[in-house]
Formats: sequence, C-alpha cells, structure tokens
Amino acid sequence: MLDLFDAAGDLSAAIEALHAATALYTAEPVVDVLLDRIGWPDADGRLVDPSAGDGMFMVRALSRLDLAPDDFQEVARVQGWELHPGAMRSARERVQSHLISNGWSVASARKAAQAIVHHGDFLTGGPAPGTFRFCAGNPPYLRYGHLPEVLKDLYRPILPDFARGDLLHAFLDRCVYNMPPDGIIGFVTSDRIWVNDTAANLRKQLGHKVGIGHISRLDPSSAFYMPKTRRKGTPPRIHPVEVVLKPSAQAKIPLGKLPVSPDGALDQHEGPTLANIATVRLAPWLGPHGIFTIDAHQVGRLPDADLVPAIDSDDIDPATDALRPATRYAIRTLKDCEPTGAVKDHLQTAMVRMPKRGQKGRWWMPPESITLPLNRPALLIPRIGRKIRTIRLEPGILPINHNLYVVSAGPDHSLGTIQEVLQSEETQMWVLRNAPPLENGYLDIRAGLLRRIPIPGSLSPKTSNVQG
Ligand SMILES: C[S@@+](CC[C@H](N)C(=O)[O-])C[C@H]1O[C@@H](n2cnc3c(N)ncnc32)[C@H](O)[C@@H]1O
Repeated sequence: MLDLFDAAGDLSAAIEALHAATALYTAEPVVDVLLDRIGWPDADGRLVDPSAGDGMFMVRALSRLDLAPDDFQEVARVQGWELHPGAMRSARERVQSHLISNGWSVASARKAAQAIVHHGDFLTGGPAPGTFRFCAGNPPYLRYGHLPEVLKDLYRPILPDFARGDLLHAFLDRCVYNMPPDGIIGFVTSDRIWVNDTAANLRKQLGHKVGIGHISRLDPSSAFYMPKTRRKGTPPRIHPVEVVLKPSAQAKIPLGKLPVSPDGALDQHEGPTLANIATVRLAPWLGPHGIFTIDAHQVGRLPDADLVPAIDSDDIDPATDALRPATRYAIRTLKDCEPTGAVKDHLQTAMVRMPKRGQKGRWWMPPESITLPLNRPALLIPRIGRKIRTIRLEPGILPINHNLYVVSAGPDHSLGTIQEVLQSEETQMWVLRNAPPLENGYLDIRAGLLRRIPIPGSLSPKTSNVQG
C-alpha cells in the first residue's frame, strides 16, 4: 500500500516538473493564423489539441463554430487533453466562460467543458486513431533524458526508438499515426526537428505518411505567454516555427531525412561538400569559467595540472579576426585518474558553482570531455555570426563553449584550401541562404550546416591533387 502511495506521489511530482518545464502557451493571433492554415472548420470532422495547456487553441477553435446554447453535439467537435491538473482546470474554466458568454447556462457550460477538456496523458491514454480530422496545438518540448524517471518508465515501452529523443518527437509521431487519410495537423514546434541531423530518422518515418504544407518562423518574443505559475521574464529559449502537415500526396515539401528550412527551400546539392574534405566538431562546454577553466594568472597555483590554452569567441579581435593570446587555461582531467593535491582542492572547492546539467558521475570530469585532437592546425568558427568567420588555431590550442572546430579530413587538403573555400563569396552566399536566421541579422551556424557546404568538384577527394 505504501508503495502505491509513493508511486502516486512520484507521478504527481513528475507531472508538476514536466508542466513547469513545458508550459509555454501560444498567443491568440498565432493560434488564429494556424487554425486558418489548417482550414478549421471548413470541412466536417473534429479537432483535437493533444496538450491543451490553458485552452487557448480550444477556445479559439470553438469561437469559429455556430454554437447554439446546449448544442452538446456541435461543441464536442473540439476536444483537448491535458496532463497537469491545474492547467486542465484553467482550460475548463476558459471553455466554460466562453460558452457562458455565448448564451449557455452555467450548468450546461460546466458540463460541456468537462466533456471537452480531458484530464489525462495524451501519449498513454489519448484518443483512438482516426477519430480527429484536425489536430492543432503546441506540443511540449522536452528531451527524453530530462524527463522524470517515472515518466521515462511509462513512455519507454510505448514509444518507437525514432520518437524517443524528445517529447515533441513523441507527440508528432503519435499525432501523425492517429491522423486519418484526409487529416491535417497544424503545430507550433521548435525549428530543431526540421533542420537537425538528430531528428533525420523521425522526419523519415513521418514522411511515409505526411509532408509539409506550410512552414515559417514565428517571433519568439510575441508568439507565447507563460502561465501565472511560471517565473516572469524568462524568455523562451527556442526558435519557434508554425508548421502544417498534410498527407504526402497533397504536401508542398516532401518529408524525409534531409533538413527542411523554415526560411524557404534549402539549396539542393548533389555534389561534394565540406564533409568530404574536412572534419567538423563542436568544441566542448566545460561549465562556468573558474572551474575547469582558470585565468592565466592562476596557473602558478596548480603546478601539477595538465593545462591547455583555451579560446572562446571573445578572444577574437572583432575588427581583424586575429586571435589574441590565450587568457584562460583549461584543466584537462582523465576519466580513469582521480586528481590529487592542488587540482583536487581547486575542483572540489569550485564545483559548487557547476549547474546541475554540468555535473557528471565523476566529480573531476567536466560536463563535456575534451576529445578534440589538438595535434594539428585547425580553424575555429564562431557558432553565431553574420557570416562565416574562420580563425586559425595552432596545434595545442583548445576552443571551448560550442564554437565549431574544423580540421582537414585527410592528407589531400591543406587547411589553407579549406579556409579559402569557407571564406569564398559562394560559401558566404550559400550560408546566408541556408543558415537559420537569428535576431539582428545573425545566423545560427551549426556543425551540420557546415558539413553540407558545397565545395568545388575539383576538390572532391577522388579527383584532387591539392597538397598540404
Ligand atoms: C507547450 S504547452 C502548450 C499548451 C497549449 N496547447 C498552447 O499552445 O497554449 C504544453 C502543455 O502540454 C502539457 N503536457 C505535457 N505532457 C503531456 C502529456 N503527455 N499529455 C497531455 N498534456 C501534456 C503540459 O502540461 C503543458 O500544459
């Protein structure tokens, strides 16, 4: 009996944590445009919001129906699922007020709201496949690894491998699976699943049934509002898009492993790319400065440490792109060798400042291990910029904090050749067209994007004679 109570306690704490991590509600104008895009309610059929939050999608969908008081049949065309009890109550209250303001009695409006907003988990207890022609909403985004254990245990047996990276993947998979042959889905999502290599398999699986009818970016500063319980002023850390999924035969853009740009069609390129001549890696994040990185003047305090000069984008002169001498050093530690002496004292004292996401099983290891080879000259490319900037790194210099690190993939190509390709006008124009834009003209330059940069056919490894 005690176990049952414990399990119930665990589950409700987990649902609180899940809601706190995922509740980002969609602003009314965004909802209205998305409902227009999916043509609600121009055809027969019902609409579901799989993760209703405080009911914005449901009320905006209801407001387009001709709802005579007590028409329980028509009102039931709109349904929603919400796991969190507080959010579910807010959704029911919102639906109830909407119906009352449309002439329904309090008792009828309450009864209808209870029938419309389901309190439950859409993934484990959602509707039967084929029952909703329209699906609209803003599904939760949360990496599977960050889910509370009790929810991981619930979802593990029911989610296919390709839908397990993030809750958003699981919701997309389930909604596409449930969609009838004449169905349509309108979602607000993060842009990552449409462009990132890590979601390629998910896209491929969804692409067996649906393609993209529309995709475009949303302004993160106005697309959302937060529930009252959430800390004010925390800006959403996603790049949102609105997307419409239709049966493949009617879709504008087929969905498959290849990325889909929310900024217009990506350039199609069949020939060789940077990945054929260079290796692109992400520089490690070692946590806040002062733990696994120290200032140059502190070096004398750690005589036994294995120290590597560490470089971040603030070490680059913005006018000339020249690298300034390193002012920081990274402490390199080994998995199988627990430090002693001054290094141990330093790390154990400083570690209190490491955020939870950076804490590893072994206290002496940084959040991300230092695995870059550092034995050859390399290029550092800042992850955010108005264009590609290439900064030459001598061997032994470690870039940090998710800057991009590029080395030659083999003996055929010099770093100079690679740098020339990256700095060329063709590449800069390609990047402008293909990199996701951020605010103020900045571009989101990711490793996958760099690897796809077209290179001249003459540099393709089979035909090239360029010497290092
Ligand atoms: C991003 S909010 C979106 C809310 C609403 N659709 C909107 O756009 O305003 C996601 C909501 O999904 C709920 N949620 C998370 N996992 C769920 C699940 N498995 N089943 C149903 N709801 C869930 C969260 O509690 C949260 O309120």
